[in-house]
Amino acid sequence: MASANLERTKVRWENPYKQRLTQHPGRIFCFDDFDADRRAVSMLCGGRSHIYGEIGSGSGNHMLALAVRHPDALFFGFEVRYKRAVRTIEKAQVLGVHNVFVCRTQGEFIDRIFAPAQLSGIYVNFPDPWDGKKKWKKNQVLNLDFLSRSDALLHESGFISIKTDHAGYFREFLRTVEDHGTFIPERRTEDLYTSKHIEGNIPSEFENLFRKKCMPICYTRLIRCQRRCAALGHADAASELREIAYG
Ligand SMILES: C[S@@+](CC[C@H](N)C(=O)[O-])C[C@H]1O[C@@H](n2cnc3c(N)ncnc32)[C@H](O)[C@@H]1O
Repeated sequence: MASANLERTKVRWENPYKQRLTQHPGRIFCFDDFDADRRAVSMLCGGRSHIYGEIGSGSGNHMLALAVRHPDALFFGFEVRYKRAVRTIEKAQVLGVHNVFVCRTQGEFIDRIFAPAQLSGIYVNFPDPWDGKKKWKKNQVLNLDFLSRSDALLHESGFISIKTDHAGYFREFLRTVEDHGTFIPERRTEDLYTSKHIEGNIPSEFENLFRKKCMPICYTRLIRCQRRCAALGHADAASELREIAYG
């Protein structure tokens, strides 16, 4: 009886933010009609040379601050949660920010939405899952596939910017970067707030939460350098990468 009631409750409840997504046409893309939304994004991007993606953009604070700082660039957040997608665009409207958009879909689809070499940078701030449990592993955003997608989407010398509170995840990802061989960590620190890289930093919502708990923030900025890596050869590129990263 109790489980039958639970079933009925489950069927009746619908996330109210799912409906509110539709109140922002042209700002939130849900990709229910994948080709139509991809065309709409492509129209927005036409003739633009500074386009950035953020995977897991949350409620958008980081992206909004970036957009204010760079009014001529376009910023596309990929966020699976309805409420966070809606909140991002509501905040953009209050702030009068017109160059932020949300793709309410998985970041893994990013290479189906943008053209090769179309992006200048990709941000990932505090990706889930952060607790390192084995069962979460398959859902981790930072992996070899992510690097391959980014490699295809970024133009020569485009960048990936990563922040996380999880040092183990961070180190494991940097080893994957080394194996991949196309990106060089131009910046790398396991304590952003005591490092020189703090200058100009824009904190995200989760970053502020972790800061309040005095937790150190790991940060890296990887530069795509395919031609340089190819010229050096894989072994030399890997050794240069190690020098920059750990030197
Ligand atoms: C820990 S929160 C960080 C949010 C924000 N980046 C920040 O730093 O405040 C991770 C976010 O990533 C989103 N997310 C997780 N996996 C995702 C995926 N595969 N594609 C897009 N968003 C994802 C979650 O819904 C959540 O909002």
